Amino acid sequence: MEKGFTLPQDCRHFLHSLRMRSKYALFLAFVVVVFVFIEKENKIISRVSDKLKQIPQSLVDANSTDPALVLAENASLLSLSELDSAFKQLQSRMRNLSLQLGMEPPEEAEEEEAAGAKEEEAAAEWEQEQEEPRPPAEAPPRRHVLLMATTRTGSSFVGEFFNQQGNIFYLFEPLWHIERTVSFEQGGANAAGSALVYRDVLKQLFLCDLYILEHFITPLPEDHLTQFVFRRGSSQSLCEDPVCTPLVKKVFEKYPCKNRRCGPLNMTLASEACRRKEHMAVKAVRIRQLEFLQPLAEDPRLDLRVIQLVRDPRAVLASRMVAFADKYETWKNWLAKGQDQLREEEVQRLRGNCESIRLSAELGLKQPAWLRGRYMLVRYEDVALRPLQKAQEMYRFAGIPLTPQVEDWIQKNTQAAHDGIYSTQKNSSEQFEKWRFSMPFKLAQVVQAACGPAMRLFGYKPVRDAASLSNRSVSLLEERGIFWVT
Ligand SMILES: *[C@@H]1O[C@H](CO)[C@@H](O)[C@H](O)[C@H]1NC(C)=O
Ligand SMILES: *[C@@H]1O[C@H](CO)[C@@H](O)[C@H](O)[C@H]1NC(C)=O
Ligand SMILES: *[C@@H]1O[C@H](CO)[C@@H](O)[C@H](O)[C@H]1NC(C)=O
Ligand SMILES: *[C@@H]1O[C@H](CO)[C@@H](O)[C@H](O)[C@H]1NC(C)=O
Ligand SMILES: *[C@@H]1O[C@H](CO)[C@@H](O)[C@H](O)[C@H]1NC(C)=O
Ligand SMILES: *[C@@H]1O[C@H](CO)[C@@H](O)[C@H](O)[C@H]1NC(C)=O
Repeated sequence: MEKGFTLPQDCRHFLHSLRMRSKYALFLAFVVVVFVFIEKENKIISRVSDKLKQIPQSLVDANSTDPALVLAENASLLSLSELDSAFKQLQSRMRNLSLQLGMEPPEEAEEEEAAGAKEEEAAAEWEQEQEEPRPPAEAPPRRHVLLMATTRTGSSFVGEFFNQQGNIFYLFEPLWHIERTVSFEQGGANAAGSALVYRDVLKQLFLCDLYILEHFITPLPEDHLTQFVFRRGSSQSLCEDPVCTPLVKKVFEKYPCKNRRCGPLNMTLASEACRRKEHMAVKAVRIRQLEFLQPLAEDPRLDLRVIQLVRDPRAVLASRMVAFADKYETWKNWLAKGQDQLREEEVQRLRGNCESIRLSAELGLKQPAWLRGRYMLVRYEDVALRPLQKAQEMYRFAGIPLTPQVEDWIQKNTQAAHDGIYSTQKNSSEQFEKWRFSMPFKLAQVVQAACGPAMRLFGYKPVRDAASLSNRSVSLLEERGIFWVT
C-alpha cells in the first residue's frame, strides 16, 4: 500500500522525461489505479478515495482523443477491454523503458512472477479455513453466484430466491458502497476505473473477505463494527445469529434488519458466517461488462456462476422514470411539452445502456471457453410468469439443490397484490407488464429505436401503435426456450 502513494510521482516523472503524448496521460492515471490494486490483491485499497485524490490532476484532466477512450458519450463500455489491454501494454513498455534507463523496474514486475505462488498460497489458506466448518460429506462443492443485473429489472425479487435459502450467504448490492466512495472524473475514466474496482472488490467478497468493504463505508468502521452497511436488512445472512449481535445500546442504523433489532454489524462475524455457509451469492447492478469478470470466472476457488437478468427496456425506462424521477426530468418535460426534440445525449445514454447489456449477453451466449457452463441469461418476464420453474432452473444451473424454504417464499410472494417501489411482494404474473397501460406510445417508440438490437436478441417485440401497446392480448414476448440456459 505504501508504494501506492509514491507511484503517481513516478508516473509523472515518466511522463515528463519520456514526453509521452497527452493521450497516454489518461492511461497513466489508470495504471496508477491498477498498480494500487495489483499491488496487494488481498489487502488492496486502504481508502481508495484518498489515493485517487493523489493522482496528479494534470493526468486526470488530460485531453484524450484516442478512440479507445471515447466510451463515455453513450455510456457504453464497449472499449473497456481495449483499455485493459492498453494498460498491460503500457505497463510492459514502462518496464522496458525503465530497464533501458538502468532504473529499477517497477515493483509490479516481480509481483507478477510472485502472483502464481501467491495464488497457491491463498488457495491453501482458503482450504485450511474451509476445514473447520466442514460441510456434510455429500454437500455439493461451494458455488459463487453473481446475479448480474441493472436497476429496475426485478433483481431484488430474483435476489430473494437466493436470500431465502439458509445455506447461501447472500449480499445485496455491496458494490453500492464503492460507487459512493470512488468517484473518478466524469466520462470514460469513471466507467473504466470503477469497473476494475468493482471486479476486485467482488472477488474479495466472494472469498468472504468482507473487510474489503470497510474501506468504502462512511463513516469508516471502527473495530470492524459498522451500522452503515447498505440495505443490511435485505441480506438474511447479515441479520441472523450469530451475526445479529444483541443490541446493547441504541444506535442509529440507517438500514436495520427487518424483523429484529441487532447491534452494529461486526465484519469479523459476518466474514466467519460467510465461510460457514455452503454457498455464496451476490446481487449487483453495477457490473456492466461480463467480459471484465474473466479473472473471476477463471479463479478455481470461486467456481463462479453468472446469472444475467434482463428485462424489457421499455419497462425498465418506465420504472426508472418513477423510481429515479429527478434523473428523468428531461424525459418528462419532453413528454409533457410534446413538440420539443428529446436531447440526443439522453437517447445516446439509453442506447449505451442497452448495448452494454446486449454485448454482455452476446458474449455469454457465445460461450467462450472461460465462461462455458458458467453463464445463464434470464428474462425477468419469464421469472414473473413462472417463478418457481425459473428458480429451479437457476438453482440447477448453479449446481445448488433448491430447498422448500425458497419454494415457500415464492409461493407466498408471487401471488399477493401489493405495490411499492422496492417491493418484491406482488402478483408477479399480473404486475410485470403493468407499464404497458400507462406508457405513452412515443416513449415506447424512442426505446424501440434506441434498443432495437437488444430487444431482438432478448425476444422483446416492438409495437407499431398505441393500441397494440396497451392491448393485453398482444404479446410482447417471443418464446425463448432452453436456449437461455447454457
Ligand atoms: C482539452 O481540449 C479542449 C478542446 O480542444 C481545450 O479547450 C482544452 O484546453 C484542453 N484541455 C487540456 C487540459 O489540454
Ligand atoms: C455508442 O455506442 C456504439 C455501440 O453501440 C458505438 O458504435 C458508437 O461509436 C458509440 N457512440 C459514441 C458517440 O461513443
Ligand atoms: C518489452 O520488451 C520485451 C522483451 O524485450 C518485448 O518482447 C516486448 O514487446 C516489449 N514491450 C513493449 C510494449 O515494447
Ligand atoms: C467481533 O467479532 C469477533 C469474532 O467473534 C470478536 O472477536 C470481536 O471481539 C468482535 N468485535 C467487537 C468490537 O465486538
Ligand atoms: C394474479 O394475476 C393473474 C393474472 O391476472 C390472475 O390470473 C391471478 O388470479 C392473480 N392471483 C391473485 C392471487 O390475485
Ligand atoms: C387486441 O388484439 C387482439 C389480437 O391481435 C385483437 O383481436 C383485438 O381486436 C385487439 N383489441 C383491441 C381493443 O384493439
